[in-house]
Amino acid sequence: MIDEAAGDFEAVHGARPGGVWAAPGRVNLIGEHTDYNDGFVLPIALPHTTRVTARRREDGRLRLYSAQGDGTITDLALDGLAPGAVASWAAYPAGVFWALAEAGHPVGGADLFVDSDVPAGAGLSSSAALECATAAALNDLYDLGLTAPELALLAQRAENAFVGVPCGVMDQMASACCTDGTALFLDTRTLEQRHVPLDLAAAGLRLLVIDTRVKHDLGDGAYAALRAGCERAAELLGLPALRDLPAAALAPALDRLPEELRPLVRHVVTENGRVAATIEHLDAGRIAELGPILTAGHASLRDDFRVSCPETDLAVEAAVAAGALGARMTGGGFGGSVVALVEAARVAEVSQAVEVAFRAAGFAAPVTFTAVPSAGARRVG
Ligand code: GLA
Repeated sequence: MIDEAAGDFEAVHGARPGGVWAAPGRVNLIGEHTDYNDGFVLPIALPHTTRVTARRREDGRLRLYSAQGDGTITDLALDGLAPGAVASWAAYPAGVFWALAEAGHPVGGADLFVDSDVPAGAGLSSSAALECATAAALNDLYDLGLTAPELALLAQRAENAFVGVPCGVMDQMASACCTDGTALFLDTRTLEQRHVPLDLAAAGLRLLVIDTRVKHDLGDGAYAALRAGCERAAELLGLPALRDLPAAALAPALDRLPEELRPLVRHVVTENGRVAATIEHLDAGRIAELGPILTAGHASLRDDFRVSCPETDLAVEAAVAAGALGARMTGGGFGGSVVALVEAARVAEVSQAVEVAFRAAGFAAPVTFTAVPSAGARRVG
């Protein structure tokens, strides 16, 4: 047991916890807005985690406390949980309980103490980290025997149906399944996964994450509208999903679609191609050559999918101008974070160039850090 976490838990809940679980945030290297099109993604887990210290309760109550919250306990009756019934951060852990119960798993109540260093609203999947840490805790506390991908799917179900955000499965799979030192190559249709070694340090490289501090919110309707546009395009083309449109068939397919859907389809098809190209480079040990693929991915998100914003565009532009090998926004977009592939010796220079460019543009100062591929959800105490 981690003493500090146990002490914090006891101070709030008045009893010893049953354990401590952690699940990470993520950045996606490439494969953006492909997951709800049955396509391919390549995220890594961050070293930043959300920790859930927890114990079982036998009275059907869920008592939730967050170190980042307002100092109060959210006290819920499990049998009263329904989609839309819980507002605030508490909807994520409550949604996981709801999804487990809906799937027929015997979960009673629990006390939770949540503490997180995954930046919220930064496009780094703080919600998936909270869901997956909760799911991992309940899996152990109630001996459910669920696998990491099963927990990820339940976490996604919680977010889709209980919280009401129509996200794909990438973030939850990354948070649940990633391993140290690897990127997760995931086929989001079959959920087939491969842990691809990503030793940035050995290649003399770093992955710089630039949080633009522009808060993104996937619940505001823009994400849902993009997803609906992609699904409509697939339907018009007579395909189960856009993943089923081969690159060679893209041009004639675009001619058959209404003007406004064409750039969405072009992005998804070319982005799946960029994931495949990235994997080829990684398998061949050519990490340093990934830069142009990342930057091309950003151009596609900016010009075709239109989910970037002035801050993410400027971060990419300034990073590349200062010598980054390539850069792109990561996550859902409309703000959030940018990843840049940078030679180790140039990290300070690139970070500084982005800061200077932000200041000159009158934007709030960005927060930058280097990320190493880290482990997925696990018990830590
Ligand atoms: C968000 C969603 C993911 C995925 C990305 C875009 O992070 O939660 O499912 O769609 O946006 O790639």
